[in-house]
Amino acid sequence: MNVIMMDANVIATAQRQDPVQPFFAARDLHAYYGESYIVQGVSLDIRQGEILALLGRNGAGKTSTLRTIARTDLPALMTGEIWLQGAPLHRMKAHAAARAGVQLVPEDRRIIPGLTVEENLTLARVAPGHGWDLERIYAHFPRLAERRRQEGVTLSGGEQQMLSIARALAREVKLLLLDEPYEGLAPVVVREIERILHDIKKLGITTIIVEQNAVAALQLADRAVILDTGEVAFTGLAKEVLDNAELRREYLAI
Ligand SMILES: Nc1ncnc2c1ncn2[C@@H]1O[C@H](COP(=O)(O)OP(=O)(O)O)[C@@H](O)[C@H]1O
Ligand SMILES: [Mg+2]
Repeated sequence: MNVIMMDANVIATAQRQDPVQPFFAARDLHAYYGESYIVQGVSLDIRQGEILALLGRNGAGKTSTLRTIARTDLPALMTGEIWLQGAPLHRMKAHAAARAGVQLVPEDRRIIPGLTVEENLTLARVAPGHGWDLERIYAHFPRLAERRRQEGVTLSGGEQQMLSIARALAREVKLLLLDEPYEGLAPVVVREIERILHDIKKLGITTIIVEQNAVAALQLADRAVILDTGEVAFTGLAKEVLDNAELRREYLAI
């Protein structure tokens, strides 16, 4: 009896939504690779359906911040809190964070060798917490539909990027983390991925996009955060960064 009452309490606490609590909040994150202190007090707030561009020079700590949010083993989060719709991600490991709806699309795309496009997508749906089904994925990614029987790792770079994004959407996604989705792609392919990301934006999927191509990211994003040596150097509207030559020169070299 006691146990049941306790469970009900835990559930009530987990479901309580504080109206001033943003959809996603990272509070004063400090994370390390061994002795190396890399993420140095990063805080981020994101409203539901918003796209945040996370920018900064090479080595500023963008990938490390995404990995911290996705709760990968490294970098290790020492202090700070990460909340997604009331769920304490800071207390979770990567698999639990994924189940809670955080989907990281890493820079290296991680397509599974030996599996076709469709098998890569189907495998993503084995874990609990389903997102889009194959029909919906193929409607948004016609190139993947055409290549569904092809081994995933034999796709072009752009197609692998599409597969990696599609795989994230096949899971339950509350927060999509994109690490340099345009990296190494020809301009014509970048435009194709951009079109897909604009679709995702219209669907209201809350997203953090990290990109060296800052202008492309800022055109997609609502707001921007600029990192400099593991700290937040700017936070504001994406448009403010596009309009501020000094800021762009100092932190983005554009
Ligand atoms: N596995 C690692 N071990 C130690 N240091 C790392 C590791 N990965 C990245 N770093 C360091 O952390 C800093 C931030 O890297 P990163 O987050 O990849 O930056 P960005 O994505 O902004 O280019 C860099 O100084 C980098 O050398
Ligand atoms: Mg990076």
